[in-house]
Amino acid sequence: MNSYWSRRLAHLVPYVPGEQPEEGSFIKLNTNENPYPPSPRVLEAIAAAADGALRRYPKPECGDLRDAIAEFYGLGPEQVFVGNGSDEVLALAFLAFFAPEDRIAFPKISYSFYPVYADLFAVPYDAVALREDFSLDAGVFAGDYKGIVFANPNAPTGMAMPLDQVEQILREHTAALVVVDEAYVDFGGESAVGLVERYPNLLVVQTFSKSRSLAGLRIGFAMGQQPLIEALSTVKNSFNSYTLDRLAQAGAAAAMRDRAYFEDTCRRIVATRERSAQALKELGFFVLPSKTNFLFAAHPEQDAGALFAALRERKILVRYFNTPGIDRFLRITVGTDAEMDALLSALGDSLKAI
Ligand SMILES: Cc1ncc(COP(=O)(O)O)c(C=O)c1O
Repeated sequence: MNSYWSRRLAHLVPYVPGEQPEEGSFIKLNTNENPYPPSPRVLEAIAAAADGALRRYPKPECGDLRDAIAEFYGLGPEQVFVGNGSDEVLALAFLAFFAPEDRIAFPKISYSFYPVYADLFAVPYDAVALREDFSLDAGVFAGDYKGIVFANPNAPTGMAMPLDQVEQILREHTAALVVVDEAYVDFGGESAVGLVERYPNLLVVQTFSKSRSLAGLRIGFAMGQQPLIEALSTVKNSFNSYTLDRLAQAGAAAAMRDRAYFEDTCRRIVATRERSAQALKELGFFVLPSKTNFLFAAHPEQDAGALFAALRERKILVRYFNTPGIDRFLRITVGTDAEMDALLSALGDSLKAI
């Protein structure tokens, strides 16, 4: 803190992203990226867009990309908003829908950016407890809220809430804007996007960072009824009209249109996840049932911090949260089969060595 800082910063604790080491120096299973490259169509589209037109500003309304998303989900383009990563979309949603005089709720164990946005925008919140078994259901949000935000499937647990529970939340909290963060939904969750037409209080947020292998391009999107999208656009255009550059718009539209590649890579990741979960259990781990591209696993006898450090020594990065309630767990991104074999063998060695 120094005298030039705004008072807003005094109590701000920023989000700490996972480590991004030099490419190739680690087996990287710490930030839930996709182990497979983006579709070849994406690289072609970006190459085609990398021309002299870069001297021009990109299209602020991102029409072609919104059309591609709308077509994929059977919505109208006026029901789609795009932004620079779903982190930005979530931040704009907090700003568009929640104010300091409101109260919102999100799960205590969930994506740790939610409390950061709430603090940044001075929105009071309740961090509600999950069930004992780490599951989430409609009942945990008992109370009158202006907003309810949750990830489905949840992170870092990986567990999914059935769609009927999501719908119950929408029905029981008609005064609340319900943000369903579906960053991981393509790996086995049930999307709420089909409920958009029926519920004016639903905003579904998704990303290209996970199932579409484009974390490096930074594209996220939101789907909801037109007034919600209009609110997001108003906030965006009061902040930065050109959030998505030309290359990102071209690459993301191509990714959305290559359904076969997307479905194939998702299927491979799910198969590797199931095999890896089974192998972790055979090593003695307790593994939560995952519908995502990561596994949340705890060993009954071994300290998770020590395991994290032992893996790091062996050049394998996973994520460890030294947070009460989850500090016995490691969060392990599902990599390729070869990467997971290396992880399992290093874990086997570490369990013997510690
Ligand atoms: C639950 C959840 N939501 C949102 C995000 C943000 O994704 P991005 O900003 O890359 O779209 C992440 C990233 O890890 C996440 O885990």
